[in-house]
Amino acid sequence: MKTILTGLRSNSVLTLGNYLGALLPMVRLANKHSNEAQVNIFVPDLHSIISEVDGDLQTNIIRNLKYYLAAGLVTNDNVHIYRQSHVPAHSELCWILNCVATMGETSRMIQYKEKSKGQESCNVGIFDYPILMAADILLYSAEYVPVGEDQFQHVELTRNLAMRFNHRFGEDIFTIPVKTADQVKFMGLSDGVRVRDLLDPTKKMSKSTKAENSKIMLDDTPEKAAKKIMSATTDSLGKIKFDMFNQPGISNLLQIEALVNDRPLDEVVEEWSGKTSYGDLKKQVAESVKTMLTNFQTKLSAISDEQVYELLNEGESYANKVANAKLYEVQKAFGLR
Ligand code: TYM
Repeated sequence: MKTILTGLRSNSVLTLGNYLGALLPMVRLANKHSNEAQVNIFVPDLHSIISEVDGDLQTNIIRNLKYYLAAGLVTNDNVHIYRQSHVPAHSELCWILNCVATMGETSRMIQYKEKSKGQESCNVGIFDYPILMAADILLYSAEYVPVGEDQFQHVELTRNLAMRFNHRFGEDIFTIPVKTADQVKFMGLSDGVRVRDLLDPTKKMSKSTKAENSKIMLDDTPEKAAKKIMSATTDSLGKIKFDMFNQPGISNLLQIEALVNDRPLDEVVEEWSGKTSYGDLKKQVAESVKTMLTNFQTKLSAISDEQVYELLNEGESYANKVANAKLYEVQKAFGLR
């Protein structure tokens, strides 16, 4: 059986970017494929501690998992939910892969450069973060890893490490995740998703950006979220066209409209082509986001902590079994067993 796997850090309430870039695509894939694929959803809590956590990490972890259920995730025997720190094989494989990866390739990671920029001293976890991510993926032989565009470089690094390892030991111990271009197709998208900052659409929407109106958080009231869309930065070209380079603000709105309603981007672009009223577009997108958040938050409030802990029980027992078996193969290859 194929495995589809993803994780979202839980340093704070998540953004609409996390939701549309990774969480919702994962839920849609899980609902479509969980009869013939294993679906692994986990909280990379060890990744969370590389940077500051807003509020209580435990609360954030449980809330993060509730988000999947509120987004409509099916739960059946093939859907597994777990916490990274509850499966020690992740850290163990990370160490082993540290001895396969090179300083050069890890230093080239854009996220590392961005996260360490301007910091007087940067913790080693920030540097090592993509290697732990590779371990998260390879332990479960995951071929499909639905993530936003900012994580593609890490998936490519994972592929390289797995191929190097297999080549070195002359065995196919690791399953190679599919290329990111094919991941995108598997998600039913034409391109990787990067939801943009509402005030500066040349940047991605990020929870760490200070300006409130730059991002929509999943706990924003639907009305507040709608207002943020209405005040989004656009341009002065006066035409509605999908062109991330020249019209990033308008393109971002078109993309949000398509993703929220699970419609092909081309169809939404076609519908608005030839129109010129940015106000009308904003009103439409604001309405879509408002409806989505209203439904999502209503469902979220009905999910109990107990429901999540019950799923974690099953999920962590499954994850430890699969991860330990793969770790043992790797340890044997290196002569550690
Ligand atoms: P993280 O926690 O920073 O982000 C979680 C997911 O949200 C996506 N994302 C976005 N997508 C579109 N537009 C945006 N503005 C936007 N912001 C965030 C990210 O691409 C990501 O998919 N290293 C990962 C977590 C991780 C992981 C893994 C993921 C750890 N191990 C193994 C998959 C498989 C991270 O820090 O994502």
